[in-house]
Amino acid sequence: MGKWFRLVAGFCWLVALLFSLAAAPAFKTKKPGEKVVIGGIGKSIHAYWREVELGMLAAAKKLKGCQVRWFVPSKEDVRAQVSTFESFIAQGLDGIVIGPSNPAAVKGVIPKALKAGIPVITFDTDAPDSDRLLYVGTDNYKAGFEAGKVMAKLLKGKGKVAICTGSLTALNSVQRMEGFKAALKGTQIQIVETYNDNEDRAKALANAQAALQRYPDLAGFYGVYAFNGPACAQAVKMMGKAGKVVIVCFDTTAEHMQLIKEGLITATVGQRPFMMGYRSTEILYRMVTEGVDKVLRDLKMHDKPLPQRHLDTGIDVVTKENMEAYRRQLLKLGIPVQGW
Ligand code: BGC
Repeated sequence: MGKWFRLVAGFCWLVALLFSLAAAPAFKTKKPGEKVVIGGIGKSIHAYWREVELGMLAAAKKLKGCQVRWFVPSKEDVRAQVSTFESFIAQGLDGIVIGPSNPAAVKGVIPKALKAGIPVITFDTDAPDSDRLLYVGTDNYKAGFEAGKVMAKLLKGKGKVAICTGSLTALNSVQRMEGFKAALKGTQIQIVETYNDNEDRAKALANAQAALQRYPDLAGFYGVYAFNGPACAQAVKMMGKAGKVVIVCFDTTAEHMQLIKEGLITATVGQRPFMMGYRSTEILYRMVTEGVDKVLRDLKMHDKPLPQRHLDTGIDVVTKENMEAYRRQLLKLGIPVQGW
């Protein structure tokens, strides 16, 4: 009985092992110095994504033989992202990083790339159930929570707030809204409406104007994406509401910083888009030249469940008072400051 049991158990173990070996993708490897092409897919044409691209290019310049192939649709465009991803697989790129506008839409193509031996990671916004190897970017729930705390303080716990975002599907937008709402629990701040512009600059402005018209007593705007803070500021200015509506938003492009100086944006959550591009490229290059397992081990990610593999690039809450200190901190981190 014991002997048979051991025999059957041993057989089952062998079968399981063979299955797991067959299921684990075999990643292509290259020697340092050989050409390594990394594909990057962003979400929309915007100064924010230009910083991500610059980060990728800076990393590629440092890494021997590394080249970058870059794509961003003009505004939110899930189909264009997926078809570009497919073409990167077909072209046999060595690694791909994507910020998916809809995590559900990449659930099929990411495993396809992995099966073809191409390591895939996400940046800026995650697709945790896609089998991607790692997510590099902001902790978006936490960032949204921070924004909510700032809003609650500025409004002294009461008033009407409109949310303006550029996506209802991308996980970063969803998590930033969830975190924000969680931070407002127990206050008398009322979220009156959520507007979506699909990362379309003109629509972002029209939405902000519509909110000001519909809610004449609006006390605050929460701008979830890089388009939104400046669009809300422009609407506030155009409708003669400067100083009457608080704007708490995301990102620190030159446009944001100018509006902070002018006092139209009260606070913004600065992300580190340059670092997202830089670190992703470096990590993919190392995965291709040193092996996926080694890199995950070095990053201490290998024993975490797949969806929890997250390299947090960090955030800063930026206001008029601390913007100079913020600039110094970015430069200290090796992040070039673009245009302000
Ligand atoms: C978000 C990106 C978005 C960009 C431009 C940023 O805040 O992290 O996902 O594409 O804004 O809208």
